[in-house]
Amino acid sequence: MTLTTQKIPQDVRMQWFRAARYGLFIHWGPYAALGFGEQGMLREHMDQREYERRACAWNPAHFDAKAWADTAVRGGFKYAVFTAVHHDGYCNWDTDLTDFSSMKQAPKRDFVAEYVEAFREAGLKVGLYFSLGDLRIPGYWSDSTGDPPDWVAYRDYTHHRLRELLSRYGTIDIAWFDGAWPHNANAWQSKKILEICHELQPHIITNNRLDAESPYSAAQGAMEMPGESSTLGDYGTPEHHTTPDPNRFWESCQVSTSRLWGFTPGEHWRPTWDLLDNLCVCASKGGNLLMNVGPDGEGRIPPEFAERSDAIGRWLAANGEAVYGPGAGDITEFISRGYQTVRDGKLYLILRYESQPPTVRVYGLASRVLKARLLGSDVELGVEQRDAELHITGVPAAGTHGLPLYPVIELTCDGDPTATDFGKQRIWSGDPRRYRPWAEARGDSPYVARD
Ligand code: GLC
Repeated sequence: MTLTTQKIPQDVRMQWFRAARYGLFIHWGPYAALGFGEQGMLREHMDQREYERRACAWNPAHFDAKAWADTAVRGGFKYAVFTAVHHDGYCNWDTDLTDFSSMKQAPKRDFVAEYVEAFREAGLKVGLYFSLGDLRIPGYWSDSTGDPPDWVAYRDYTHHRLRELLSRYGTIDIAWFDGAWPHNANAWQSKKILEICHELQPHIITNNRLDAESPYSAAQGAMEMPGESSTLGDYGTPEHHTTPDPNRFWESCQVSTSRLWGFTPGEHWRPTWDLLDNLCVCASKGGNLLMNVGPDGEGRIPPEFAERSDAIGRWLAANGEAVYGPGAGDITEFISRGYQTVRDGKLYLILRYESQPPTVRVYGLASRVLKARLLGSDVELGVEQRDAELHITGVPAAGTHGLPLYPVIELTCDGDPTATDFGKQRIWSGDPRRYRPWAEARGDSPYVARD
């Protein structure tokens, strides 16, 4: 939907984002010190005064936005989204509208200012997560129908805080909304929210969490209903899954631990290959990955995260051209071996194996392959191609050539990579009975077919 206040067309504003591919989500606030995830206050039915008392005393000694930005750069992230305020209402900036903030309470620091400056300085695009809902405040829980006064007061408070954030910190690249549910776009005046964004930050892009409904998440069996609008905002936000949003460009947000977004000691970390896998899936389906870290209560990025993101950063340094940049992949059904992406007319095969045989077979490619190379190295690979069948030979085992994770083969084709009819199909979509002629070729008998 185009709003009259939008001075810059969506495709122009979205350009960098479509190419960036990989963002760092940072969930951090007083909850990090309490160790029960970002929503423990409500989930554990805490007394709100007790929560506030502890939040006000929170005084992280090691918050260092530059160190965060260094981790992000080393990890190969192109942008970040930091929780300016989560559902507990604690504002990580110097707001005039409440004293429940990092400036007015123990830290006496404007964390948002420090984050924005450090990330911008490091050359990353800068996003702010903004929870519309503050679960402590009864006005948020009111029935918003007919705009009762406590709801209107709460909504105004929210709009004004957004104005502060978008007018005091220079360029903000992304406004990442959340916490709209259970109120709908009319109740929030979501169009006005977007107008505020475009008026104050003409280049800004916004996500779609500006309504009560999440029909698309519900259809995917998502764990949460994050309040996604199917018309408002610039991009979709599948959460904990990588299914493309059918309506528009999308960014999947994913945790790096087992479930929670805020720091929770003892939660299992996902293995590096699993995190990298998410990135490759998103790149092959044409979307972005926003991977989360919850820094600890003192403000440090957990070493378990840094270790994983550094490894992915090293992988990206060698193989980034298969991932960064607009475009998708999935030229042929390649699920048996890994993922495909297409960038600048080249086809990349990302092999999802810890070890693999030296020959990789691809079936269904119509383009002629002129050259095959192991990305991030000068290793040329052999190519044997007959009709729709391609064999790439001499593929080194994973773990060699300094590539411990997911080797990538770059194929230079005789034009933009295209597939045969078989290659274009995905076996379990459409009517699989179309494969009957293929089975007929062997004859009807249940006994072993012989020539
Ligand atoms: C969900 C969670 C919230 C988290 C967000 C990230 O909406 O409820 O805590 O911040 O996902 O996408």
